[in-house]
Amino acid sequence: MVDTHCHLSKEIYENLDEIINNMKGIMIISATNTKEIKEVIELTEKYDNIYATIGIHPEEADNYKEADLKYLESFLNHPKVVGIGEIGLDYHYTKENKEKQKELFIKQINLANIYHKTLVIHCREALEDAYNILKEVKNKELKGVMHCYSGNIDEAKKLIEINMSLGIGGVLTFKNEKTLKEVVKTLDIENFVLETDSPYLTPEPFRGKKNEPANVKYVANKISELKNITLDEVANITTANAKRLFDLPF
Ligand code: NI
Repeated sequence: MVDTHCHLSKEIYENLDEIINNMKGIMIISATNTKEIKEVIELTEKYDNIYATIGIHPEEADNYKEADLKYLESFLNHPKVVGIGEIGLDYHYTKENKEKQKELFIKQINLANIYHKTLVIHCREALEDAYNILKEVKNKELKGVMHCYSGNIDEAKKLIEINMSLGIGGVLTFKNEKTLKEVVKTLDIENFVLETDSPYLTPEPFRGKKNEPANVKYVANKISELKNITLDEVANITTANAKRLFDLPF
């Protein structure tokens, strides 16, 4: 299986090597600011089964400098950097700086257009604005994923039309979550990739504990239940989807 979105660092996990060894599949780890990029790149160089996406998160919108974007750009030709992200809009965090968030988002989509890098989108309470910007700014053929997708079926269909996939994570296993279950039941599995967003959003039955990439199997299991196909089928199809989405070389 491929965990297409997680965060790994020594600061998050004291037992980082153990956490990495627990995961038998591929991990795509995400750097969300310039400070994280170096450690993320080092991990991709140390482990064959780790790839990275790098980006400047909307929470940095008030503080980023042009030099940060230059620094980010300097890693985009690294062979294990497979995308730009997580980037996007977060109006839950704050609505005060919408224009700054949009500006940072657009600048990084433009970088993705130039370097042909898959987009990993963080979007909270901002789906309409995120969709409009993606539709307008992103090159049509450029691929991307709505990390931790949380919209409804109609919104998902619109995103799929503009070449976006849906990242399905631990929220799917939560008892009260209904909309995402409908999305997974209704839409073609070709549009889904698995993710954990570790250390956050731990799936049932471990909700409340610190998440880790190996838990991606609980997300896959829920998809197999909802779509009434075997766990092996979910693993094979979502792995092929992730491979296509990020042009992974295996
Ligand atoms: Ni994340």
